[in-house]
Amino acid sequence: MSTHTLPIYFAPLQGYTEWAYRNAHHKVFGGIDTYYTPFVRFDKDGFRNKDIRDISPSSNCVHKLVPQLIANDLDKADTISTLFIENHYTEIDINLGCPFPLIAKRHNGSGILPYPNEVESLLKIVDKHPDIDFTVKMRLGWSQADECLALAEKLNKARLKHITLHPRLGTQQYKGEVDLEGFAAFSENCKHPLIYNGDIQSTQDIREIQSKFPNLAGVMIGRGLLSHPAMALEYCTEEVLTEELYWQKIKEMHKEVFNQYEQQIEGGEAQLLHKMKTFWEYLEPQIGHKKAKAIRKSKSLHVYWEKVNTTF
Ligand SMILES: Cc1cc2nc3c(=O)[nH]c(=O)nc-3n(C[C@H](O)[C@H](O)[C@H](O)COP(=O)(O)O)c2cc1C
Repeated sequence: MSTHTLPIYFAPLQGYTEWAYRNAHHKVFGGIDTYYTPFVRFDKDGFRNKDIRDISPSSNCVHKLVPQLIANDLDKADTISTLFIENHYTEIDINLGCPFPLIAKRHNGSGILPYPNEVESLLKIVDKHPDIDFTVKMRLGWSQADECLALAEKLNKARLKHITLHPRLGTQQYKGEVDLEGFAAFSENCKHPLIYNGDIQSTQDIREIQSKFPNLAGVMIGRGLLSHPAMALEYCTEEVLTEELYWQKIKEMHKEVFNQYEQQIEGGEAQLLHKMKTFWEYLEPQIGHKKAKAIRKSKSLHVYWEKVNTTF
């Protein structure tokens, strides 16, 4: 087994890994090399206020944050990149992986993967901003695992700092197994440093993927970190937190998230409750169905805190 410690990247998840969550995770658990923002898009109504807040340096205090754009053409990619650059970012991630049908059908995210010429023209964004590092986060393809192979040459030619590959198809969404053979095939054809992403649930899983693919440049983890926020820390330190310390940290992180949203949310109690409930979704296996359901059903902050306090 490979023993060196790989950098761990926190995957972007719309609705979950927003600024308050990232800040709190970094402060309380850490172990993350880079946090990524959920994708920012630019459509007929312009930018969404929540996206602008999420990338704003005044909202963020993690040590390294990379904003992500999603676009189906160079103009849109440039408009979004300009917003990032105005906010002093020097690295930008390009989303070629989103599987949501409404987004993908307009050739955004993984919906662009079957069209190498469109990918090539989108990647011209890299040459437009020579001072900025670009990375790509992608899937194997939209409907065929060899779509990424057809793109390899164009990706290899682009000045990318690294590529993160989630070895599923867009049409699979998040269902079915990850395709490790598809990952291996792409890794043989990819000249850029390659990061693995998909279904990592434990430090053991990190070490297994590391030994299967010894040349990996890092591992990106999403849902596994939401359900076990200590995973990256435990991997880096090679020490498992005691149950007591773990729950003390969850309590602290929850309070951090709550305090930040309480200060920023203008929509009142219902909106704050809605945001806080997402904190518990992926922790359900740890707190149990009954407690999770009671939190989900709480209709006031008073009841919410009563239910939450039974979990620590
Ligand atoms: C609810 C949800 C929202 C997501 N939002 C994004 C996003 O904004 N940008 C992105 O690149 N990937 C997004 N993803 C994909 C994750 O970053 C990641 O690639 C995927 O969950 C697989 O990794 P995991 O098994 O470690 O979670 C999202 C996934 C989920 C489930």
